Amino acid sequence: MGRREHRSPSEQALRWVEAAVGGNARVVRTARLVGGLTATMDRLSVVAGGREVDVVLRRWAGDQWRDWGPGLVDREAAGLRALAGHELPVPRLLAADRSGGRTGVPALLMTALPGHPARSPKDLADGVRKMASVLSRIHRVPAEELAATDPHGFDERTIHGWTRDAGLAGAVNEAAAGAHESARQPVFVHGDYQPLNMLWRDRALSGVVDWTFAGSGRRETDVGLCRLGLAALLSAEAAEEFLNWYEKEAGVRVDPRCDLRSLLAFGSGWLSHASEQMPHSAPADHQAMAERVETVIRAALARLG
Ligand SMILES: Nc1ncnc2c1ncn2[C@@H]1O[C@H](COP(=O)(O)OP(=O)(O)O)[C@@H](O)[C@H]1O
Ligand SMILES: [Mg+2]
Repeated sequence: MGRREHRSPSEQALRWVEAAVGGNARVVRTARLVGGLTATMDRLSVVAGGREVDVVLRRWAGDQWRDWGPGLVDREAAGLRALAGHELPVPRLLAADRSGGRTGVPALLMTALPGHPARSPKDLADGVRKMASVLSRIHRVPAEELAATDPHGFDERTIHGWTRDAGLAGAVNEAAAGAHESARQPVFVHGDYQPLNMLWRDRALSGVVDWTFAGSGRRETDVGLCRLGLAALLSAEAAEEFLNWYEKEAGVRVDPRCDLRSLLAFGSGWLSHASEQMPHSAPADHQAMAERVETVIRAALARLG
């Protein structure tokens, strides 16, 4: 599967986790988490004060992270600190080792959230509304202290040759290059807000994870990416419903050109990415996936008027 080798946390890392949890904590189990396309993720069960709790350790192991790892730890830690106290279903920061001085590699420790990842919430219509509502609340968290984020770099986007519809490609490239509403009030941006980073328990959206790209930026960065994820994994209708609910819940109009630019983050890598993250339930058909995304892109173009 071309996966990187997974190494269990070192003794040094385990001792660091125990010290961070406190109360004579002992790690009693470790389990690799699915995903980990970039970072190495483990869920650790820790017994402290007679109680067992789960925590999640993200490690930036490998030479390629020597330069970037500390900044990514800083970014996620700053995001989680800013989110604390806002009653959102997000992890609490327990400790950060930006340089790897304590654990060997840049690392971040957070609480584990309840629930499980799913390609689709059990009740899709209700789940889409919850995704929109939680995102509107994330976007209300003060972000003045945070670094700017624009992880998909949509200002340079064009439609990268994955569509078979040449007319659509031409219209999109022209539209994406046009002026958009800039300098609107920046908001707290998750940076990778899409269905693969959500956890569900029954019908509740019980967790939003993966805050590595959190920062201050445009709301469309999250809105467009979530719409893209919904279209790619599920349906174009779900992506359109998400936009309707988001605009209602947030009380703002999404800039259609910025939305369109985020939608253009789609590409040929999405199918393999989805199957790495969801080995048992990923969509199998790239063409069907691309056609659902095209439907949403056409609707976004129509909104430009
Ligand atoms: N705080 C957390 N609580 C529970 N599960 C988590 C937590 N953080 C991550 N996970 C699980 O691990 C998976 C991978 O973590 P994520 O942060 O999304 O990294 P990546 O996308 O780089 O693999 C998530 O999809 C989720 O299932
Ligand atoms: Mg993720």
